[in-house]
Amino acid sequence: MSGSSGGRIPESFIESVLAKTDIVPLIQESISLKKNGANYSACCPFHHEKTPSFTVSQTKQFYHCFGCSAHGDAIRFLMDYHSLNFVDAVERLATRVGLTVPKDPHEAARMQIKHGTTSVLNRCAEFYAHQLKNHPEAKVAVEYLKKRGLTGLIAKEFSLGFAPNGWDNLLKSFQDENETFKVLEETGLIIKHASGRFYDRFRERIMFPIRDRRGDVIGFGARVMDKSQPKYLNSPESPIFQKGHCLYGLHEALHAKEKWQRAIVVEGYMDVVALAQYGVTGAVATLGTAITSHHLQTLMHMVPEIVFCFDGDKAGQGAAWKALQLVLGLLSEGRQVRFVFLPQGEDPDSYVRQYGAASFQTLVKNGTPLSEYFFATLCSKVTPDSVDNRAHLANIARPMIESIPAGIFKEMMYEQLAKILSSTPQVVRGEKAFRSFYSPKGNTRLKVAPPPQPMETANIASALLLKKPELFNVLMQKLPALSNEIIAPGMELFHGLINLLKQNPSALTEQLRKKLQENGFELKRLQECEKKIAIIPDEGLEAEFCGAIARLEVIGREQYTEKLLQKSKISELSDEEKTKLKEFLQIGNQFDS
Ligand code: UTP
Ligand code: MN
Repeated sequence: MSGSSGGRIPESFIESVLAKTDIVPLIQESISLKKNGANYSACCPFHHEKTPSFTVSQTKQFYHCFGCSAHGDAIRFLMDYHSLNFVDAVERLATRVGLTVPKDPHEAARMQIKHGTTSVLNRCAEFYAHQLKNHPEAKVAVEYLKKRGLTGLIAKEFSLGFAPNGWDNLLKSFQDENETFKVLEETGLIIKHASGRFYDRFRERIMFPIRDRRGDVIGFGARVMDKSQPKYLNSPESPIFQKGHCLYGLHEALHAKEKWQRAIVVEGYMDVVALAQYGVTGAVATLGTAITSHHLQTLMHMVPEIVFCFDGDKAGQGAAWKALQLVLGLLSEGRQVRFVFLPQGEDPDSYVRQYGAASFQTLVKNGTPLSEYFFATLCSKVTPDSVDNRAHLANIARPMIESIPAGIFKEMMYEQLAKILSSTPQVVRGEKAFRSFYSPKGNTRLKVAPPPQPMETANIASALLLKKPELFNVLMQKLPALSNEIIAPGMELFHGLINLLKQNPSALTEQLRKKLQENGFELKRLQECEKKIAIIPDEGLEAEFCGAIARLEVIGREQYTEKLLQKSKISELSDEEKTKLKEFLQIGNQFDS
C-alpha cells in the first residue's frame, strides 16, 4: 500500500495541479450537481440523504456536506469518492490537466520492485486457484470448503486456492525463472533449507490470497483442512506485506456491488468469506494481529461507518477497548463507530451460518455506539457513586476524550461525562481556572485568594465580545446564564455590553464602543485587555471567550458559596440553598483527590 509516499510529490506541483483543476466539473464527472446561487449542490455521496446538503463552492474550490461534514478539495474528493490513495489521486488529477507527476528516482525504483513482486504473487494466487480446480487431490479441499458452507462462486470471488501436498509444487511451476525465484524467497513463499535447497512454505492448505485495495496479491493466509497445528500459516512480513497495515477483504469490500458504506471489522479470514457467502459484504479482518491505527486510518478514509465485531469473552472485551482507544484520535465529523459483541463461543462465521444474514445485520445495525460503549465500560470499571470515584472517573476519561479531534462529538462526550458525574462540562474538562481556583488542600480551599486572572476576566470577556460581537450568540445559545451578582472588576461594563447587544444583536464593534462611552463607561482597563487579546487568532476567539465565561462562573459560584457559608453561621439555610451549597462544594471537591 502506498500513500505514505505522498510527501515525495513536491508541494509546488500539487499546488499547480490544483490551480489548473476546477472542482465543479471534476465532481460532476461522478455525481450530478445543481446550480444553487453561487454554489452547486447535490445529495451527499458520502452519506445517505434525501435532501441535498452537499455543497460545492467554485470560488473556494471546496466541497462541504452540512449533513455529515465531509469536506475537502479536489484531491480529497478523489480519495474519498473513488477510494484512491493520495498519490493516485494527485496522479489522476495531473493527467486530467495534462501534467506529469515528477518522480523521485528512488520512488520509481521502489514502484518497479513492488510491481515485479505483486505480479509474481498474483501468479502464485492463480497457481493455487488453478490447483483447487484441477489438482487430482483437490477434492479434499473442495469438500472442506463445502462443509464450511462456501460455494464455488464465493471461492472464486475471493480467489481461494489449494496448496497440494508436496515440497515443490510451487517451486516446479516457476522453474528456470531466476528473477521470480528471488521474489518467491523474499516473500516467503519458498524457504531455503539448511542444505541450500528450497521448498514450498504452504502445503496441504486452503489458500486465502490477501490483496491490497487495488486487487494485487501481497501475501497469503493458509488454513489446514484438519485439526493439525498451526491452524493458519501466513506469509511473513515483507516490504509489501505489513500486517499492521493490511486488511483482508479490503479489495472485495471496495468492489462489492453496492457502494461500501460500513466496514465490519472481524477477526478471521473465514469470517470475512462466510459473511460474503451469506450476502453480508464489507467485512474486513486483521491478519491475526491486533488492530492498529494504520488499519483504522485506512477504513476511516473509505467508509463513514465502522462496526467492530468481537467475541463476547474477556479477550474480546479487551480487544474492543484497545480498538476504542485507537479510534478516538481518528474520529472525524460524520464518522460513526459501533461495537458488537457476539454470544459466547460464536464468531461471525458460525453466527451467520446458524442464525442467518438478517439476524447478523440486525446485530450490526444495533451495535452499541462508541459513546455508549465508552461510558458503560468506564462506569463498569469505576462506579460513579462517590465523590472520590467520580473524580477518579473524570481523571481516566479526560485524557481519552481529550484525544478526540476538536468538534461537536468531543463536546458531546464532555457533556455526557458531566451528566454521569453530575457536574458541568467545564469542570470535567478540568479547565485551568477550575483547577487553580480550587487548590488541592481540602478545607483551606475557600480561603485561597483568587488567582490573578479574575481581576481581568470580565474585561477580557468584554474585549473579546467587542472584537467579535457575534460571540453574543455563543453566550446566549451555548453557555449557561451567568449570575447577575458576580462581583469582579469590569463586570458592570460587561453587563452594559450585553445589554447593548440584546437591543441590537448585529451591532458592530465601533458602534458598541461609541455607545459604551456615551453610557459613561471608562474604557481604559478594557483597552489594555484589547491589546492582550490582539494576538489571539480569529479561530481561537470563541474558545477564549468560553474560557473567560467559565472563569466568571467560577468566581460567581465561589462568591455565592462564601455568602451561603457566612449565612449558615447566623441563620438556617433554606432547602434550596443547602442543595446549592452542597452541589458547589462538591464541584470543587472533584479535583481535591
Ligand atoms: P481464529 O482461530 O478465530 O480463526 O483466528 P477463524 O477465522 O475463526 O478460523 P476458522 O473458523 O477456524 O477457520 C482468527 C485469525 O487469527 C489468525 C488468522 O488470521 C485467523 O483468521 N490466526 C489464527 C493465525 O494467524 N494463526 C493461527 O494458527 C490461528
Ligand atoms: Mn471461525
